[in-house]
Amino acid sequence: MAQNSKKSLMQAPKGFRDILPSDQKYYEFIKQIAIKHLRFSGFKRIDLPILEYASLFERGVGEETDIVRKEMFLVPRKGNAEEKEDYALRPEGTAGVARAYIEHGMHTKPQPVMLYYVGPFFRYDQPQEGRYREFWQIGAEILGTQKPTADIELMRLAWNIFEDLGITDLSLAINSIGCDHCRGNIKKSLKEYFESMRSKLCPDCIRRLDTNVFRILDCKEPACKEVAMDAPPILDNLCVYCKTHLRKVLEMLDELKIKYDLDPTLARGLDYYTRTVFEIAQVDDRERKLSLAGGGRYDMLVKKLGGRDVPAVGFAFGLDRIVDLLKKKEIEVPDYEKPTVFLIQLGESAKKSCYQTLEKLQNEGIPTQATPFRDSLKAQLRTANRLKVRFTVIIGQKEINDNTAIVRDMKESVQEIIPKAEIVNFLKEKLKK
Ligand code: HAM
Repeated sequence: MAQNSKKSLMQAPKGFRDILPSDQKYYEFIKQIAIKHLRFSGFKRIDLPILEYASLFERGVGEETDIVRKEMFLVPRKGNAEEKEDYALRPEGTAGVARAYIEHGMHTKPQPVMLYYVGPFFRYDQPQEGRYREFWQIGAEILGTQKPTADIELMRLAWNIFEDLGITDLSLAINSIGCDHCRGNIKKSLKEYFESMRSKLCPDCIRRLDTNVFRILDCKEPACKEVAMDAPPILDNLCVYCKTHLRKVLEMLDELKIKYDLDPTLARGLDYYTRTVFEIAQVDDRERKLSLAGGGRYDMLVKKLGGRDVPAVGFAFGLDRIVDLLKKKEIEVPDYEKPTVFLIQLGESAKKSCYQTLEKLQNEGIPTQATPFRDSLKAQLRTANRLKVRFTVIIGQKEINDNTAIVRDMKESVQEIIPKAEIVNFLKEKLKK
């Protein structure tokens, strides 16, 4: 048996958190708004497994990326004959979507295929504010089109979702990192430049000179960041097709009046990207840029994983960082678990018969709660007050005898006696106002 410290029995692992009832309304709010936008735009939901073969991410996201090299939670195979590969807790969703596209022959469906997912993801990073080892993402992917309008559709969606959430002080950074044809030239000019700066680079970046020079562009080390600022702009070495693609994307962003910064150092930390990459960030009080959403094209990923030549584009945003921001900005969010009506029962027979009324109200879609395990009027009223309900319905022995209920308007502090059969309609009318 594993040795347990007391702490490990009473505390979640570092970087893992419970999402407590008091925080659920924020997560619910973000999900409701985002899913509404995604559905209206024609995206269909896909739920992906939390565990995939580790090789999917090694091949898909890239062995040289931080996410795979340092941050992947590996789950070793059990050693049974049928288990040949190690697993990993998914660090992101795009590789899983591309795998599912191939596995389920989605190329036979009308293209493009538009999918979205919601769920927890796992990265073994150093936990700090806004960076967790288990975090939630909502992602959207469009597979089967190389049209720049698909890139725009996603940026437009992301922008509108943030606007609807009440977060508008954002920056959208965009860049193109080229395609199969021009990446050779881009790589060559970046390599020449960074080689000349070798002495200023961190050990990881010195290794990246040989493995993946693009990664140096988004290294978080301050010295490397400074060197990257003067790197030859990728845009100078783009082929004519990539230049046209980028121009069309930028023109449409202008058309939509979405403000952006063309950021020549933006490369994003995942290897599958080609052409457009983008990031939506919020600058906090300490001038620290916190990435809320990121995405881009990955025209070669499906093929790299063994599928057809299927161009694709997508983005994902982190729910936890947005929750932190909503709280910091004191943005009011609806409480979906808050009832509008509270049912109070007094006495044994009322306790038995209150379920009938409770279920009737609930079945009619009126959010109603009761606490049949409480007896005193005072305690039940206290609960009704704490829940800040609009109405309480009170049923005691007299009301049972008369086939009525007392309906109290908590806002106006007035009450009326209503025949039992009319309670639903009475409340529905009142709640319309
Ligand atoms: P990503 O930039 O790695 O992209 O993650 C997207 C978002 O997830 C980030 O902007 C951030 O809000 C959130 N996030 C990432 N890591 C953490 C963490 N440790 N703690 C809290 N939040 C975090 C991707 O994952 C790509 N799959 C996006 C994509 C979809 N590209 C194309 N399609």
